[in-house]
Amino acid sequence: MTNKRKTLLSGVKPTGKPHIGNYFGAMKQFVDLQGDYGRTLIFIADYHALNNVQNREEMNNNIYEIALDYLAIGLDPKNVTIFKQSDIPQHSELAVILNSITTMSYLMRAHAYKDAQARNKEISVGTFDYPMLMAADILMYDADVVPVGQDQKQHIEITRDIAEKFNRIFGETFKIPEPLILENVATVPGTDGKKMSKSYNNTIGLFAEDEEIEKAVMSIVTDSKAPGDTKDPEKDNIFALHKLFSKEQLSDLEKRYKEGGISYKESKEILIENIKKIIKPLREKRKELEKDKEYVLDILREGGDEMRARAEKKMQEVRDKIGTKLYE
Ligand code: ADP
Ligand code: TRP
Repeated sequence: MTNKRKTLLSGVKPTGKPHIGNYFGAMKQFVDLQGDYGRTLIFIADYHALNNVQNREEMNNNIYEIALDYLAIGLDPKNVTIFKQSDIPQHSELAVILNSITTMSYLMRAHAYKDAQARNKEISVGTFDYPMLMAADILMYDADVVPVGQDQKQHIEITRDIAEKFNRIFGETFKIPEPLILENVATVPGTDGKKMSKSYNNTIGLFAEDEEIEKAVMSIVTDSKAPGDTKDPEKDNIFALHKLFSKEQLSDLEKRYKEGGISYKESKEILIENIKKIIKPLREKRKELEKDKEYVLDILREGGDEMRARAEKKMQEVRDKIGTKLYE
């Protein structure tokens, strides 16, 4: 089957400003792949975010901001349907149905839940049930391919399991989706070398101003090798980001690292220039889009209307299969 007959679907939670880890790990794939698939569906997972964002203004703002982000990185509404999850109540309905065929012990094995538990956090039922809503997001539209970062792989596996289970119990209904994870960007490191994450305060913002980029790069943690020492590029946090931003100079940089021909300071300066070159046009496009809020909201509104109709069609089938549908 060519990709033209397949559906690509993915989403991001509106929990704050995206960083370059989100971009390279997930969002850039949305842009690069748009147009390759018969349908590309990119949504805003606002009910997933509700587990963390519990403030009206903040939620409102975050949703709008992520819609701007999507458009600024180059998602083209001609190729992609952009919508928000909460505009399609059928997602929640399907999650309730999937809950009924899922056991607590199965969900307790999910990494996200175990991590939250390890941090001794008060865990909301919504967080515990997060994978079921995510499965509903994906299965609703018969998605074939789901581009995500490495940390979401288990959620896609759970989605596959639950789809198979439903199909076994009620008959063939859902397509089994595949994750799409690019190995070289599976985990983008932050300025401290750990996974870049909003939760760790180690991010470089995707739409950062030049000064923010300088500050973040200058704070990248390195070992204490002197400028003339030989350095192992594979162990350096600056070099890890060169792999994303300095592709053309990469072999030269690698050589200089190994020969002891570059200081970390110079390496950081080169990185700063290269990051600026990539971020500046994105930032400028975003500023342009900010001037027309109604345009952005209209895209969400239209996407929501279109997907609600599709979702309702799928749910009619689901309700029929489970036996709750008695009449048209
Ligand atoms: P965060 O960890 O910053 O809160 P999210 O959980 O909102 O990020 O992730 C949104 C998307 O970005 C997911 O598909 C996730 O896999 C991807 N992602 C997040 N951080 C990284 C990273 N450091 N490297 C690669 N992909 C990432
Ligand atoms: N869980 C994803 C994240 O943390 C967001 C998400 C929700 C998602 N539903 C989805 C991603 C469906 C892909 C498909 O980023």
